[in-house]
Amino acid sequence: MEKIKTAVIGCGMISYIYIKNLKNLFSVIDLAGICDNNAESAREKSELFGVPVMTMEEIKADPEIRLAVNLTGPAAHYTVIRELLEAGKNVFTEKTLCVGFEQAKELEALAREKGLYLGAAPDTFLGAGLQTARFYIDRGMIGEVTSACAAVNRAHALNSEIFRFIRNPGGGFAYDLGIYYVTALLSLLGPVRKVNGFVSESKEHAARMLRAGEFGRSWKTADDNLYAGSLLFENGAVGTLHFDGESIDEEQSSLVIYGTEGILKLGDPNTFNGSVRLIRNNTQETEMPFTHGFTGSPLYGPETIADYGQHRGVGAAEMAWAMIGHRPHRASAGLALHAMEVIHGLDVSAEEEKVYHMTTSFDRPAPLPAGYTDRIMGGMLLDAEGSLVN
Ligand SMILES: NC(=O)c1ccc[n+]([C@@H]2O[C@H](COP(=O)([O-])OP(=O)(O)OC[C@H]3O[C@@H](n4cnc5c(N)ncnc54)[C@H](O)[C@@H]3O)[C@@H](O)[C@H]2O)c1
Repeated sequence: MEKIKTAVIGCGMISYIYIKNLKNLFSVIDLAGICDNNAESAREKSELFGVPVMTMEEIKADPEIRLAVNLTGPAAHYTVIRELLEAGKNVFTEKTLCVGFEQAKELEALAREKGLYLGAAPDTFLGAGLQTARFYIDRGMIGEVTSACAAVNRAHALNSEIFRFIRNPGGGFAYDLGIYYVTALLSLLGPVRKVNGFVSESKEHAARMLRAGEFGRSWKTADDNLYAGSLLFENGAVGTLHFDGESIDEEQSSLVIYGTEGILKLGDPNTFNGSVRLIRNNTQETEMPFTHGFTGSPLYGPETIADYGQHRGVGAAEMAWAMIGHRPHRASAGLALHAMEVIHGLDVSAEEEKVYHMTTSFDRPAPLPAGYTDRIMGGMLLDAEGSLVN
């Protein structure tokens, strides 16, 4: 079976589950090396997973490495992705494409010009929750989609005591977490035509966590964390966004799709297994069974905190299968760019106090085929990779 020789760049926090999955879960990936400009981080993951450490130069120069998975922080994305594309590598990157819509456009154009695949997270829309929602919507279970509501809140600045990149440009609440909601809506409803937004300046944060070592210090995150917006989709549906990164620690997630014949209440799109609850004709709300695999259930025995987000890497694996099949990939740069433009549009609309007209579009990713599961016979691992092949 053809495999795609792959390298990972960036061995920080999220790399644990990525390296583990790329090495063990997806047969299409041949993980050849990992790299970090912090030698200690690379060595630690290399010892843990038995994958050789490489330098960026070695990765770029190795003609057999066809796919690079970029897990650096957003501030490094533009330079790293550009370098890799220039070296002729196909790239899958963690979110967001990079900091700033103009640079993201450049990267998407460069990949197209070079005939290379460029893909981006969030790839959670390929998980069981959102693929199941798509399955029911496509089969008319809620009739014609008329509107959608997405809201999430969290203490984002408190999180920045642990995840330091979110203090920097590109790490704001809308880009770091709101992007999962925007991407989910785009995957279900298609492109947006117009955006209207209000944004409030981020607040000063006084460090609270003794363990994080900055108690007594205070800072403002570079990006703003309070957004309210409204969307008009190309298909005529309307939507609202409510992103409050100044809330209390506990996170609340709400994602609802309304149609002429029903309502779908969806679980957290920052997971692979958000529940799918259907209301039709005033009947009682019903939790619907998953139609798809990638359920985010523990894959390798007892779950640890590092296994959080268990199916991460599915977007990169799907892109690898697309490379083999010479077909478009689903977590595409076009989708990621459009998602980024929605948030950029909220910023511009708030700044200029007028409606923002979207300039990009994307082909809505084809749904994954239904019927594939993660396990059979009550527990035997049967990953859902088969659903990624075509
Ligand atoms: N941490 C999470 O829970 C989480 C969840 C989902 C997505 N993500 C995304 O994953 C990405 C990484 O997040 P993280 O939390 O792992 O960040 P991190 O800061 O823990 O890790 C980033 C790593 O990249 C390395 N790096 C930076 N520039 C580099 C370069 N030019 N060449 C090689 N290595 C370089 C750093 O040394 C660091 O080890 C971000 O895009 C983030 O949005 C993170």
